Amino acid sequence: MKKTITVMLLAILIHACASKSDVQITQLRCEYLDNPLGIDEVNPRLSWIIESVEGGQKQTAYQVMAASTMEKLNSKNPDLWDSGKVKSDQSIQIEYNGKPLTSRMDCYWKVKIWDKKSRPSAWSDPALWSMGLLEKTDWKAKWIGADTNKKNEEVKKDLSTSEKHIKIEQRGDPPIPPSPLLKKSFTIKKQIKKATVYATALGLYELRINGKKVGDYVLAPEWTDYNKRIQYQTFDVTGFLNQGENVIGATLADGWYMGFFAQWGSKTPNRGENYGSLDRKLLVQLEIVTTDDQTDTVITDETWQIWNDGPVRSADMFLGEVYDTRKEIIGWDMPEFDDSEWENASEFPATEAELVAQMNEPIRIVKELKPIAVTEPETGTYIFDMGQNMVGWCRLMVNEPEVTKIRLRHGEMLTMDGGIYVENLRRAKQEDIFITNGKGENTFEPRFTYHGFRYVEVTGLSKKPTPEMLTGMVVASDADLTGKFECSNSDLNQIWKNTLWSQRGNMHSTPTDCPQRDERMGWMGDAQVFSQTAIFNMNMAAFFSKWSQDIRDAQQEDGRYADFCPYPNNKREHLNSPGWADAGVIVPWRLYQNYADERILEKHYSSAKRFIDHVHLENPDLIWTQSVGNNYGDWLNGNTIISEDYPKTGGKVPDEIHATMFFAHSTRILANMAKIIGNDEDARKYTKLADEIWSVFNKNFVDSTGQIKGKTQAGYALALNFDLLPEKLRNEAAKWMTDAVHEYDIRISTGFQSTYRLMLELTRWGYNDIAYQLVESHRFPSWLYSIDQGATTIWERWDAYVKGRGFQSTGMNSFNHYSFGSVVEWMVKTILGINPDDEFPGFKKFIIHPQPGGSLEWAKGEYNSIHGKIESEWKTENGRFKLNISVPVNTTAKVYIPAKDPDLVMESNKPIKKSKSIQFLDFVNSEAVYVVPSGKYEFTVPYIR
Ligand code: BGC
Repeated sequence: MKKTITVMLLAILIHACASKSDVQITQLRCEYLDNPLGIDEVNPRLSWIIESVEGGQKQTAYQVMAASTMEKLNSKNPDLWDSGKVKSDQSIQIEYNGKPLTSRMDCYWKVKIWDKKSRPSAWSDPALWSMGLLEKTDWKAKWIGADTNKKNEEVKKDLSTSEKHIKIEQRGDPPIPPSPLLKKSFTIKKQIKKATVYATALGLYELRINGKKVGDYVLAPEWTDYNKRIQYQTFDVTGFLNQGENVIGATLADGWYMGFFAQWGSKTPNRGENYGSLDRKLLVQLEIVTTDDQTDTVITDETWQIWNDGPVRSADMFLGEVYDTRKEIIGWDMPEFDDSEWENASEFPATEAELVAQMNEPIRIVKELKPIAVTEPETGTYIFDMGQNMVGWCRLMVNEPEVTKIRLRHGEMLTMDGGIYVENLRRAKQEDIFITNGKGENTFEPRFTYHGFRYVEVTGLSKKPTPEMLTGMVVASDADLTGKFECSNSDLNQIWKNTLWSQRGNMHSTPTDCPQRDERMGWMGDAQVFSQTAIFNMNMAAFFSKWSQDIRDAQQEDGRYADFCPYPNNKREHLNSPGWADAGVIVPWRLYQNYADERILEKHYSSAKRFIDHVHLENPDLIWTQSVGNNYGDWLNGNTIISEDYPKTGGKVPDEIHATMFFAHSTRILANMAKIIGNDEDARKYTKLADEIWSVFNKNFVDSTGQIKGKTQAGYALALNFDLLPEKLRNEAAKWMTDAVHEYDIRISTGFQSTYRLMLELTRWGYNDIAYQLVESHRFPSWLYSIDQGATTIWERWDAYVKGRGFQSTGMNSFNHYSFGSVVEWMVKTILGINPDDEFPGFKKFIIHPQPGGSLEWAKGEYNSIHGKIESEWKTENGRFKLNISVPVNTTAKVYIPAKDPDLVMESNKPIKKSKSIQFLDFVNSEAVYVVPSGKYEFTVPYIR
């Protein structure tokens, strides 16, 4: 009998080992991207997500294979890398460790894992990355463009010809010349196996082959410090080419490189001043591998033809685009086009700047919106209402029997008489002009500008338009959405939506403050406060990695960080403002916390250290008062609000306190960075410095009862959020913080830096009820006040528009500024209860701790972390609290359940005590705490409030 059992057990065991795991491996990513082409990271990091219906599932080992072709990947011996079976539960940030990667290589790869019972999974579907041009010498192409001397004559000629029929006002100083078209015709004799194009520009380019646009990128190349670094893009164009004659071509425009941008009012730099050049240039290298494995290369050089009189008459990021359909040249980018009138392009010397691969999601058209209404406030002036403050441009289809000049102006709000409100745009005209050819249907869609708007004013049409004629094209850096949020209070859902729209509206290769007025800069303070919200909403890993490079590029020799990055030709010195400069420490740290990205810390560490060393050197007494730049403080705090029934003082945390708190906080983070990258000496050094700043802060600004000088909401919120107070004073300080909120009759007096921190700290220190009151309040100033006034994005100022008073000062009043949207971090952490666990970065372990409050009866949402999707949904019903969660494979969650008695907690309708997989951890403050392995769970408990 015993023998039979042993044999049976053995059989089961053998069966278990031999049987396959049913886990699925999905979302294979290389350097955070989906099948990226042309990367220049020679040690790329790979990650994948594991899905399973089985609870408690995890990875115990993995194997990665990589090969240069699909055939080789499917063979037993892939030619690039076979990791073999690696015993590890790591499924993210796995460094490629195969044959050295060189320019142009294709790397197909796949993964298999072994699950908790050591059963192997099936191989994942294959994924791909390819290498770009890694060596300077790989680039054979030359920079080409229009001859600068000839160009100005052309401009004059162009303007005079157009003016014959239709007057177009001259734009720019010096005037913006029409966008040149550049082309090259070439013959492919042999059969094509594969073709790849590497391209970039100084200015913007749109690449075309044989009449078709290459790729779906817009506004490329994206914004970097073009004097140091220019991103190039890589496209597989095999399908674009044919044996025989082919044509490759491009249109160029000014873009960030040469256009008008920067915010300095009358000091707005002239065209070309930001990067010191008036030459729009193109660089293209097309490599065609034929079936005999020979490579034909087509490069930009002076054999390319140029046409300076195309349909894009002028284009600028701020001013808008002027397009003359009559100047279209049909077939210019197709074979057999007669280009005898075209001239040869001019060659330019190579730039000093480094050519780097674009390794962040491109800017694309991410959505299309249809107008919800069209009005006619004045005869012949039509206002299209997009129903949403959006960023991008419009596609307009018209049918005009005569040559007609149509003007599109873009604004975020309406004036009292129903016209378009444009005063807050300052010098950014945001105006497109479209001249039809009078031959029937014409479509206009700008490509070399972008606007922030909800309303579009269209004039010049010969008849009343229909809403169908216009489409809003939403343009943004195309990072994946990772968050969802919904709850029983639809107003809060609107805050979440407004924030997402403001995020989308301010991601154009850099995180900008606003998308409409003449500013649109990568303001550091704004991104610093919004970074965690941004990460909850979208996959920001690649975007912020790219921006961290921009931050390093903008850093001054002496260690000061710029207040906005990139930092073009700044004559007024926007440097080192406390809370802004600190983004240079805080944002890379967030990449580590959320994506377990140690490499960013290694790359960025010395830069962060130079910044802290600078502040230390300038402020030996450890109170940050020197080298504070423009010292914006807690920007747009309550003291800046203009309203009769709102206090005029009491909101602003004193500057030296604000600054010193950031100094302490960033130094502490630096010490942690040092620890992570294994620099123990620095870890000790900066821990000591952080401790010293901590003491100086407490000695100078905090009294024995926990009161902080200034007694502002902001001061307490920041000090608590940065853990700057002795433990015994924290509860006291939190009480003072609530006093400061009561001083304002339970209204907010905080600015950019402290608003979401106030919300987090109220909840953390036992005043969740007050946090809910603030977020659910409709009283001015509040989030919901803006929503009651029709806001569809987050406003820059609490009082951007006040009933009875009207708009704030036109000098600074954006209706699409994400900073105050950072309350979404509180919403995700508190309402959904999804929190990272700092000790286990990348959501390897995380916390689910929903804290219901206010009017809420239910909430549900998710965060698609680098380890997979975390879901949290709760409701209170019939005296019970019910929480449904899902915990991704290969992760564990610490879950907090509100309970009078932990014995009453049920999971899947069974007493939780009986669960074998869930481990009881603690019972504190009427909450039972459990450690929960991967899977889906339903907790219920009698509800206490
Ligand atoms: C921007 C802000 C920015 C600030 C610095 C403003 O003009 O719009 O969002 O952070 O300047 O104080």
